[in-house]
Amino acid sequence: MPRGFFITFEGLDGSGKSTQISRLAAWMKNLHEAEGSAVVVSPEISSMIAPVITRQPGGTAAGDKIRALTLDSRSSGLAPMTELALMFADRAQAIAEVIQPALDAGRVVVCDRFTDSTEAYQGGGRELGSEIVLEFHRLVCGALKPDLTLLLLPSLEASLARARRRNERVAAQTARDEGRFEREEDGFHRRVWEKYREIAGREPERVALIEGDLSIDEVHRTVATAVAKLLGLDRD
Ligand code: ADP
Ligand code: TYD
Repeated sequence: MPRGFFITFEGLDGSGKSTQISRLAAWMKNLHEAEGSAVVVSPEISSMIAPVITRQPGGTAAGDKIRALTLDSRSSGLAPMTELALMFADRAQAIAEVIQPALDAGRVVVCDRFTDSTEAYQGGGRELGSEIVLEFHRLVCGALKPDLTLLLLPSLEASLARARRRNERVAAQTARDEGRFEREEDGFHRRVWEKYREIAGREPERVALIEGDLSIDEVHRTVATAVAKLLGLDRD
């Protein structure tokens, strides 16, 4: 069985990852009937490429507990190194339980955040540096690397304003509180943003950088073009 494709979405909180993952999943599911689409595939291929969608932290039973622990605003006093180790503990479980089995079965896996997030947030934001994150990656993930990373980088101000609005809405509607990172000072978010740019500059063949304050449709068109190219759907 051929290995599938591993696609990740990255960016600051509020950069539009969840929105674009939903749009991408709907596009992939309906490729055979997408009107005016440059890509034409049979219904059989369309169902084969329906993606397995997951996110980090979370996506497994153990991972959801790590998510609650790391994102809850009431988790005060977590040392940066604890945060780093928890993110990789979550990742180890997700690889074993979800990602590797799906790739081995030839599926397309779409993951909301992966190691680039740890490099940007713990390496950049928490100032642990890239080297220790990449060392953890080698130990925990081995050679597993995304085939394509869609890095959404609208302006820092737009991302943060959207994330804060969304979190207030979710907190008002549910008992969920996942705002620990959004409450960090602006310098933290600036360092995360800069580390993401550094990663994109270092690995331009893997990372598709989508910059600027674009509409949801504009971002979706760029995402769909990059994914079609990766999957070979843009060829006759
Ligand atoms: P993330 O998953 O990266 O945190 P979301 O997809 O949840 O981001 O988006 C955060 C908020 O911003 C949502 O309310 C969403 O509707 C809105 N949003 C997403 N993309 C755009 C965009 N390109 N322009 C304007 N608003 C957007
Ligand atoms: P997520 O739910 O994707 O947030 P959002 O939808 O607002 O973008 O991610 C949760 C938070 O976890 C986010 O603030 C970034 C942080 N995070 C890290 O700090 N390190 C990591 O390795 C990962 C995967 C996430």
